Amino acid sequence: MVVQDLPQVLQIEAEAYPSPWSERIFLDCLSRRDQGYLCRTLQSKNNRVAGYAIVTLVLEECELVNFCLHRDVRGQGLGHHWLRQVVSFVREQGACQIFLEVREGNTAAQRVYLEGGFSEIGRRKGYYPASLPIATRSPGLVAREDALIFGLMLS
Ligand SMILES: CC(C)(COP(=O)(O)OP(=O)(O)OC[C@H]1O[C@@H](n2cnc3c(N)ncnc32)[C@H](O)[C@@H]1OP(=O)(O)O)[C@@H](O)C(=O)NCCC(=O)NCCS
Repeated sequence: MVVQDLPQVLQIEAEAYPSPWSERIFLDCLSRRDQGYLCRTLQSKNNRVAGYAIVTLVLEECELVNFCLHRDVRGQGLGHHWLRQVVSFVREQGACQIFLEVREGNTAAQRVYLEGGFSEIGRRKGYYPASLPIATRSPGLVAREDALIFGLMLS
Protein backbone atom coordinates (compact mmCIF):
# COMPACT_ATOMS: atom_id res chain seq x y z
CA MET A 1 0.00 0.00 0.00
CA VAL A 2 1.23 3.47 -0.87
CA VAL A 3 -0.20 6.91 -0.08
CA GLN A 4 -1.64 7.12 -3.62
CA ASP A 5 -3.86 4.10 -2.83
CA LEU A 6 -5.57 5.88 0.05
CA PRO A 7 -8.54 7.45 -1.81
CA GLN A 8 -9.60 3.97 -2.96
CA VAL A 9 -8.75 2.36 0.38
CA LEU A 10 -10.79 4.97 2.29
CA GLN A 11 -13.81 4.41 0.06
CA ILE A 12 -13.65 0.63 0.59
CA GLU A 13 -13.13 1.16 4.33
CA ALA A 14 -16.12 3.52 4.63
CA GLU A 15 -18.40 0.97 2.95
CA ALA A 16 -17.08 -1.96 4.97
CA TYR A 17 -17.18 -0.93 8.62
CA PRO A 18 -19.59 0.86 10.97
CA SER A 19 -16.61 2.74 12.49
CA PRO A 20 -14.17 3.12 9.58
CA TRP A 21 -10.56 4.13 10.07
CA SER A 22 -9.71 7.71 9.13
CA GLU A 23 -7.10 8.78 6.58
CA ARG A 24 -4.89 9.80 9.49
CA ILE A 25 -4.86 6.26 10.88
CA PHE A 26 -3.86 4.80 7.50
CA LEU A 27 -1.15 7.46 7.07
CA ASP A 28 0.11 6.65 10.54
CA CYS A 29 0.31 2.93 9.68
CA LEU A 30 2.12 3.69 6.41
CA SER A 31 4.68 5.83 8.22
CA ARG A 32 5.46 3.21 10.85
CA ARG A 33 6.98 0.43 8.80
CA ASP A 34 10.09 0.58 10.97
CA GLN A 35 7.85 -0.14 13.98
CA GLY A 36 6.41 -3.27 12.36
CA TYR A 37 3.32 -1.88 10.60
CA LEU A 38 3.00 -3.70 7.28
CA CYS A 39 0.33 -2.51 4.83
CA ARG A 40 -0.55 -4.54 1.74
CA THR A 41 -3.05 -4.11 -1.06
CA LEU A 42 -4.64 -6.67 -3.32
CA GLN A 43 -4.76 -5.26 -6.87
CA SER A 44 -7.43 -6.15 -9.41
CA LYS A 45 -6.59 -6.88 -13.06
CA ASN A 46 -7.28 -3.26 -14.00
CA ASN A 47 -4.88 -2.09 -11.29
CA ARG A 48 -7.54 -0.94 -8.84
CA VAL A 49 -7.43 -1.70 -5.11
CA ALA A 50 -9.60 -4.81 -4.57
CA GLY A 51 -8.65 -5.23 -0.92
CA TYR A 52 -6.06 -4.53 1.72
CA ALA A 53 -4.59 -5.87 4.91
CA ILE A 54 -2.66 -4.23 7.72
CA VAL A 55 -0.60 -6.25 10.14
CA THR A 56 1.64 -5.35 13.01
CA LEU A 57 4.70 -7.49 13.59
CA VAL A 58 6.51 -7.30 16.92
CA LEU A 59 9.34 -9.80 17.26
CA GLU A 60 7.72 -13.04 16.03
CA GLU A 61 4.14 -12.12 16.92
CA CYS A 62 1.82 -10.67 14.37
CA GLU A 63 -1.64 -9.09 14.62
CA LEU A 64 -3.95 -8.72 11.64
CA VAL A 65 -5.55 -5.38 12.48
CA ASN A 66 -7.40 -4.72 9.22
CA PHE A 67 -8.47 -7.22 6.55
CA CYS A 68 -10.91 -6.04 3.95
CA LEU A 69 -12.18 -6.60 0.41
CA HIS A 70 -14.06 -4.23 -1.89
CA ARG A 71 -17.73 -5.12 -1.71
CA ASP A 72 -17.81 -5.76 -5.49
CA VAL A 73 -15.39 -8.68 -5.19
CA ARG A 74 -16.89 -10.39 -2.14
CA GLY A 75 -18.72 -13.69 -2.26
CA GLN A 76 -16.32 -15.28 -4.78
CA GLY A 77 -13.87 -16.99 -2.45
CA LEU A 78 -11.38 -14.14 -2.73
CA GLY A 79 -11.28 -13.73 1.08
CA HIS A 80 -9.74 -17.21 1.40
CA HIS A 81 -7.17 -16.41 -1.31
CA TRP A 82 -6.30 -12.99 0.18
CA LEU A 83 -5.88 -14.44 3.67
CA ARG A 84 -3.51 -17.13 2.33
CA GLN A 85 -1.43 -14.41 0.67
CA VAL A 86 -1.30 -12.33 3.84
CA VAL A 87 -0.35 -15.33 6.01
CA SER A 88 2.35 -16.36 3.57
CA PHE A 89 3.69 -12.78 3.55
CA VAL A 90 3.89 -12.50 7.36
CA ARG A 91 5.54 -15.91 7.55
CA GLU A 92 8.22 -14.66 5.12
CA GLN A 93 8.66 -11.64 7.42
CA GLY A 94 9.47 -13.98 10.30
CA ALA A 95 6.14 -14.21 12.15
CA CYS A 96 5.59 -17.40 14.18
CA GLN A 97 2.04 -16.67 15.29
CA ILE A 98 -0.76 -14.42 14.15
CA PHE A 99 -3.78 -13.12 16.06
CA LEU A 100 -6.85 -11.07 15.18
CA GLU A 101 -10.15 -9.86 16.61
CA VAL A 102 -13.46 -10.26 14.84
CA ARG A 103 -17.01 -9.25 15.70
CA GLU A 104 -19.11 -12.17 16.89
CA GLY A 105 -21.69 -11.33 14.22
CA ASN A 106 -19.19 -11.22 11.34
CA THR A 107 -19.79 -14.77 10.16
CA ALA A 108 -18.28 -14.33 6.69
CA ALA A 109 -14.94 -13.20 8.13
CA GLN A 110 -14.96 -15.99 10.73
CA ARG A 111 -15.49 -18.62 8.01
CA VAL A 112 -12.55 -17.23 6.07
CA TYR A 113 -10.32 -17.32 9.16
CA LEU A 114 -11.41 -20.83 10.20
CA GLU A 115 -10.85 -22.16 6.69
CA GLY A 116 -7.42 -20.51 6.80
CA GLY A 117 -6.48 -22.60 9.83
CA PHE A 118 -7.22 -20.09 12.60
CA SER A 119 -9.04 -21.19 15.72
CA GLU A 120 -11.00 -19.26 18.30
CA ILE A 121 -8.85 -18.77 21.38
CA GLY A 122 -10.71 -16.15 23.38
CA ARG A 123 -13.47 -13.60 23.66
CA ARG A 124 -13.63 -9.95 24.77
CA LYS A 125 -17.09 -9.30 26.20
CA GLY A 126 -18.80 -6.20 24.82
CA TYR A 127 -15.65 -5.06 23.03
CA TYR A 128 -17.31 -3.41 20.02
CA PRO A 129 -20.05 -0.79 19.99
CA ALA A 130 -23.08 -2.16 18.15
CA SER A 131 -26.33 -0.63 17.02
CA LEU A 132 -29.57 -1.78 18.63
CA PRO A 133 -32.77 -2.38 16.64
CA ILE A 134 -34.74 0.92 16.70
CA ALA A 135 -37.60 -0.62 18.73
CA THR A 136 -35.29 -1.48 21.63
CA ARG A 137 -33.34 1.81 21.77
CA SER A 138 -33.62 4.00 24.84
CA PRO A 139 -31.49 6.82 26.30
CA GLY A 140 -28.46 5.51 28.15
CA LEU A 141 -28.72 2.02 26.69
CA VAL A 142 -25.55 1.27 24.75
CA ALA A 143 -25.38 -1.91 22.72
CA ARG A 144 -22.12 -3.82 22.67
CA GLU A 145 -20.94 -6.83 20.68
CA ASP A 146 -18.33 -9.37 21.76
CA ALA A 147 -14.99 -9.68 19.95
CA LEU A 148 -13.76 -13.18 19.25
CA ILE A 149 -9.99 -13.63 19.32
CA PHE A 150 -8.59 -15.95 16.69
CA GLY A 151 -5.05 -17.27 16.50
CA LEU A 152 -2.85 -19.29 14.17
CA MET A 153 0.58 -20.79 14.86
CA LEU A 154 2.80 -20.46 11.81
CA SER A 155 5.88 -22.44 12.74
C1 LIG B 1 -14.40 -10.66 5.54
C2 LIG B 1 -14.31 -10.58 4.02
C3 LIG B 1 -12.89 -10.24 3.61
C4 LIG B 1 -14.68 -11.96 3.45
O1 LIG B 1 -14.79 -11.79 2.07
P1 LIG B 1 -15.34 -12.92 1.07
O2 LIG B 1 -14.38 -14.01 0.90
O3 LIG B 1 -15.82 -12.23 -0.14
O4 LIG B 1 -16.52 -13.51 1.87
P2 LIG B 1 -17.64 -14.45 1.31
O5 LIG B 1 -18.84 -13.65 1.02
O6 LIG B 1 -17.10 -15.32 0.20
O7 LIG B 1 -17.92 -15.34 2.59
C5 LIG B 1 -16.91 -16.18 3.14
C6 LIG B 1 -17.60 -17.39 3.68
O8 LIG B 1 -18.59 -17.00 4.65
C7 LIG B 1 -19.87 -17.45 4.25
N1 LIG B 1 -20.82 -16.39 4.62
C8 LIG B 1 -20.94 -15.17 4.07
N2 LIG B 1 -21.93 -14.48 4.70
C9 LIG B 1 -22.41 -15.30 5.66
C10 LIG B 1 -23.44 -15.19 6.62
N3 LIG B 1 -24.15 -14.08 6.76
N4 LIG B 1 -23.69 -16.26 7.42
C11 LIG B 1 -22.97 -17.40 7.31
N5 LIG B 1 -21.98 -17.56 6.41
C12 LIG B 1 -21.71 -16.53 5.60
C13 LIG B 1 -19.78 -17.69 2.77
O9 LIG B 1 -20.70 -18.66 2.33
C14 LIG B 1 -18.36 -18.18 2.63
O10 LIG B 1 -18.24 -19.49 3.08
P3 LIG B 1 -17.46 -20.59 2.22
O11 LIG B 1 -16.30 -19.90 1.57
O12 LIG B 1 -17.08 -21.59 3.23
O13 LIG B 1 -18.45 -21.04 1.22
C15 LIG B 1 -15.30 -9.52 3.45
O14 LIG B 1 -16.60 -9.87 3.83
C16 LIG B 1 -15.02 -8.10 3.91
O15 LIG B 1 -14.12 -7.43 3.39
N6 LIG B 1 -15.83 -7.62 4.88
C17 LIG B 1 -15.72 -6.24 5.37
C18 LIG B 1 -14.50 -6.06 6.27
C19 LIG B 1 -14.46 -7.07 7.37
O16 LIG B 1 -15.46 -7.37 8.00
N7 LIG B 1 -13.25 -7.58 7.62
C20 LIG B 1 -13.00 -8.51 8.68
C21 LIG B 1 -12.68 -7.78 9.93
S1 LIG B 1 -12.27 -8.90 11.26
